[in-house]
Amino acid sequence: MATIYLDQASTSYPKAPSVAQAVYDYLNGSAVNVNRGGYQAAYSVEGQIFETREQLLRLFHFTSGKGKNVIFTPNITTSLNILLKGLLRSGDHVLVSSMEHNAVMRPLVQLEADGVTFDRIPCSDDGSLLIEKAEKLLRPNTRLLVCLHASNVCGTMMPVQKLGEFCQKHHLLFILDTAQTAGSVPIDMEELHLDALAFTGHKGLRGPQGTGGFLIRNELASQIEPLLSGGTGSISHTEEVPAFLPDRFEPGTPNVPGILGLHAALCDLEKTDMNAIRQHELELTQYFINGILQMDPTESVLRIIGKRDIKDRTSVVSVQTLQMDMARASYELDVTYGIMTRVGLHCAPSAHKSLGTYPEGTIRFSFGPENTHHEVDFALHALAEVAEIPQHL
Ligand code: ALA
Repeated sequence: MATIYLDQASTSYPKAPSVAQAVYDYLNGSAVNVNRGGYQAAYSVEGQIFETREQLLRLFHFTSGKGKNVIFTPNITTSLNILLKGLLRSGDHVLVSSMEHNAVMRPLVQLEADGVTFDRIPCSDDGSLLIEKAEKLLRPNTRLLVCLHASNVCGTMMPVQKLGEFCQKHHLLFILDTAQTAGSVPIDMEELHLDALAFTGHKGLRGPQGTGGFLIRNELASQIEPLLSGGTGSISHTEEVPAFLPDRFEPGTPNVPGILGLHAALCDLEKTDMNAIRQHELELTQYFINGILQMDPTESVLRIIGKRDIKDRTSVVSVQTLQMDMARASYELDVTYGIMTRVGLHCAPSAHKSLGTYPEGTIRFSFGPENTHHEVDFALHALAEVAEIPQHL
């Protein structure tokens, strides 16, 4: 049975064209370590890792940053943990959106035990942030606003430009989680007044799993206590953690094959028109939503969660099957039709509470650059049969 991958919000597939070869070439070639060996092969790989930092600076328009301001981590969850746990102290207050993923919420809930408090800026029932409610949540000790760029549950994007201005006006630090947007939505770190931007390599950037990191301004970096420490290959005469970037936040041997795969993915992305990809993904999104509404205009069998149009959203659509258990429906889509989706709460209970879909969750369909209208047609047909829309039986 042919399969159709519609779980792009979880991880992208297929990966960018040059990724697998780059990982293979490294592992099958020299596979040397970096920042430790004094030989040409190590210097060559170090050069490619440095280029990857420069590519990320360009991608996110961090024009005032340098390569050292790009930190590699195993994933965006690690990045957010380093930023939040390294920065926040007893007495600090934080603002988040009510659509956050647990990559932000679990560190914050852990930090509550250390005297950190937070408030959620509410959203409407389609996930749009009610930014006008943010001001009332401010406290004299509010230090940071951290939020995702787009919901991984329903694709609704946060008004990040306005949030950046809000943070400027109220002298708050601003950290953005770009898990669902990096590589598919243009992001300008300077225009958004971001102090740090956390990214993952394996979603919209189409690199390997196990890659990610953050871009950070010097002023914020100097306020963050490293979560991890160890060998860096630098200032090895001392047992103190290096004060300089990126070493301060990059102890231990890095994921070299992963970073080189990410480097290849970024080379591919630089040759691509990101706006054309975004346009294609949004077209598929609208086509899918319209298809559902045509089959079931009253939404008595299939309920779309979130926005019905493609303004300020990504290519993620959550649906509830009202007359069938959703785990069963998702299983049927997989085993009978070969369609891969993600069902449940998507590690985002706060988002599902905001959308009114907690605790039952949704079936999530997410589209990438290589998905086609034909695949969406087949998914609609399969969904109609699985959910038992009467005219399709
Ligand atoms: N956070 C990822 C998702 O939404 C894994 O599926």
